[in-house]
Amino acid sequence: MSSELSPPAAPLLPAPGPGRGAGSPLPPPGQPVLRITGVNHHFGEGETRTQVLFDNDLEVMPGEMVIMSGPSGSGKTTLLTLIGGLRTLQEGQIEIWNPDQSGYATLRGMAEPDLVQVRRRIGFIFQRHNLFDSLTAIQNVRMAQRVGPGSPDPDADAADFLTYLLLGTRDVQGKPQKPRTDYKPAALSGGQRQRVATARALINRPKLVLADEPTAALDANTGLAVVTLLRCLARDRPDDELRQLVRPPADASEGGRLADWQIPLLRKIVTETGTTSLIVTHDGRIMNLADRIVHMGRGRIESNVVVAERLFVREGLRQSPVFAAILPDEQQKIADQILIGVHPDHPARPDHLRAYPGRVEVYDPGQVIIHQGDRVDEHGKFYLIRRGTVEVLRTADGVTAKVDEMGPGRYFGEVALLMDQPRNATVRAVDRVEVYTVDRETFDRFRDVSRPFIERILINFRDSPWDEHGRG
Ligand SMILES: Nc1ncnc2c1ncn2[C@@H]1O[C@H](COP(=O)(O)OP(=O)(O)OP(=O)(O)O)[C@@H](O)[C@H]1O
Ligand SMILES: [Mg+2]
Repeated sequence: MSSELSPPAAPLLPAPGPGRGAGSPLPPPGQPVLRITGVNHHFGEGETRTQVLFDNDLEVMPGEMVIMSGPSGSGKTTLLTLIGGLRTLQEGQIEIWNPDQSGYATLRGMAEPDLVQVRRRIGFIFQRHNLFDSLTAIQNVRMAQRVGPGSPDPDADAADFLTYLLLGTRDVQGKPQKPRTDYKPAALSGGQRQRVATARALINRPKLVLADEPTAALDANTGLAVVTLLRCLARDRPDDELRQLVRPPADASEGGRLADWQIPLLRKIVTETGTTSLIVTHDGRIMNLADRIVHMGRGRIESNVVVAERLFVREGLRQSPVFAAILPDEQQKIADQILIGVHPDHPARPDHLRAYPGRVEVYDPGQVIIHQGDRVDEHGKFYLIRRGTVEVLRTADGVTAKVDEMGPGRYFGEVALLMDQPRNATVRAVDRVEVYTVDRETFDRFRDVSRPFIERILINFRDSPWDEHGRG
């Protein structure tokens, strides 16, 4: 550890709690809570100076659960400590939404007292958890706790956290167990200390949580309890979803299980949602639950995928016979070629579109996207509707009729990927429309692998009047 690294200090002063402060808890719609731009980092001086982070950019939206993975030494912890203001930011910028001031805190060059304020609003779950040896588990949590008007009864709240995390009087079978709340860290196992540190990090319901391998020391059940807590702090989860986690003990092997009695306690401690978390982990079980997966390699963010967007695009492509004919791996590769890293619930901003030219096109209400009769050549495109509604119009014998209206997840223009044929319908935007596009060049890169399948499709298209589809 370098000397510039300050430990996440337990806050000593009362700070704005729930119900206080005039600021806006969330950034303006479509804006991230965390924005990282051009971040480089070097360790050492002179001859031994080594660069470990290279030009990293990342945006995280409110309530997103982001998983960071990557080989040992790839820079995950370094990046996390920079975001947390635990290390001096040397190059680039890190902006974190500050609800109290309704603006972004910019970490570069920030004075120490301001950095302290930034750290105070973040929940840190790190491997070296910095528990106080002289304090019991519950005292460690209590000491971090800020109490404001409207906050829950502090003692009960701390106890609820620890009980939910299986350190209280009940185990996951519901059987009585010796509570660990009055044990000092030296008398706790590594996993127990980790859970105390987790309770301490979350007790003030921070809007940003930074966690470095938070489940590494935990078994399946306690790991699931931690991750489920983070997920519920991010967004409200329906009862059904939580109930599914209450599995019979025999079924506990894989992902772990919650106990019946943990659910009401979970509901009780999740007093606010909208928490964003960045979690470094190699735990595949958590990865399946992430909203965004960021992979680091050799100091760079190598991939950054919004899981829901990836699914949305892949499902959308699969609806079309043209893509359905392609092998699943190739489908996924094409989907990944057109992702812009934004959840389909959020509109694409101009800077997203600039970052990935040609992947998404935006149309105003009334604007025509494709024209019936337009010739299609090697620049012909396929369109998958990301947001908004389009109408499909067809003109025959001088009469134009609306034959269909389509919304997100529907597609049109697929034949252009296979054949030079004029468009057989006009497609016009009804409201503001965003479409993912696949051009022939992209398609061709993957079709070779699947050529035999494509040939079959082509035969079908030639033989059958595909006009029936109503989407030329
Ligand atoms: N204080 C330091 N001084 C010099 N080099 C450091 C320091 N901390 C980390 N490094 C180097 O920076 C690189 C990135 O380290 P980092 O701890 O961020 O990796 P990581 O991705 O978190 O790895 P792991 O999965 O093993 O925790 C490594 O090559 C490491 O040796
Ligand atoms: Mg690390």
